[in-house]
Amino acid sequence: MPSRETWSFAGVFGTFDTAQLQRGFKVYREVCSACHQMRIPFRTLTQNGGPQFSNAQVTALAAEYKIQDGPNDSGDMFERPGRAADYIPWTFANENQAAAANGGKAPPQLTIMAKARGYERGFPWFIVDVIPFLQYQEHGVDYIHSLLNGYETAPSDFKVPQGGYYNKYFPGHVIAMPKPLSDGQVDYPKGADGKPVVPETVDQYSRDIAAFLMWSAEPALDQRKRMGFMVMIFLGVFAYLMYYVKKKVWAPLGGEAEGLPGTAPLGPTG
Ligand code: HEC
Repeated sequence: MPSRETWSFAGVFGTFDTAQLQRGFKVYREVCSACHQMRIPFRTLTQNGGPQFSNAQVTALAAEYKIQDGPNDSGDMFERPGRAADYIPWTFANENQAAAANGGKAPPQLTIMAKARGYERGFPWFIVDVIPFLQYQEHGVDYIHSLLNGYETAPSDFKVPQGGYYNKYFPGHVIAMPKPLSDGQVDYPKGADGKPVVPETVDQYSRDIAAFLMWSAEPALDQRKRMGFMVMIFLGVFAYLMYYVKKKVWAPLGGEAEGLPGTAPLGPTG
């Protein structure tokens, strides 16, 4: 079972860590995008609650890509530099080409992968997991993190078919994706001492890309959590008010509201 990790965006007060999302995008761009596709426009990378790259950064980034456009006046398709409003293009022209290049299995779209994968945590966690307020929503990111760390030599009695790779966490253990990450592969931002601010390791890369994929699957997560919290506060205040309104309304009939003016309790002595 994938291991449960700590995420900045978990829990009621969770929010995305902007720096982590930026690193995650770097991993996506330099590694995963060689095979996978993400259906998001460049400009979403500037959004609040997301990686929050500046408009200038995103415009420059988009311009590094070639986008097919057209037809032009003479009916031909043509290529032009990308713009912020374009979708991040895919390396492959279509699914078939992607599958042909990957031993027959097309790399799936990663945009909503963090929500599309999960696992059952078993007793007793599944009880906790269904309580709406406590609900654990990070199964998908845990799985992605574990999957990327799950490449091992297969046990001696396990036969890995050709074109497959052994992965501890992939259902059935044979995955068509070769181990995509290795230590030191992606350059991370350096601190003042010239050392990377976070380790350049498979473990860290996979945390960052998993967080980025959580954001792409739910770009409004920060907003939703803030809203959820406000709703809880509102319901709390509302419940409190209603309780006192109820007391006041029913007071003339006696009972609990002793002490309030004009509310002599009913009863044998009244
Ligand atoms: C060399 C191509 C290649 C690269 C690079 C690559 N992948 Fe994959 N990936 C694949 C293929 C092919 C599959 C389909 C595997 C299968 O179904 O057996 C896949 C499947 C996946 C899956 C789905 C697993 C599942 O449960 O179905 C995830 C998640 C994933 N890749 C994440 C990543 C991430 C994150 C990166 C970058 C760090 C990455 N991949 C880089 C080829 C690649």
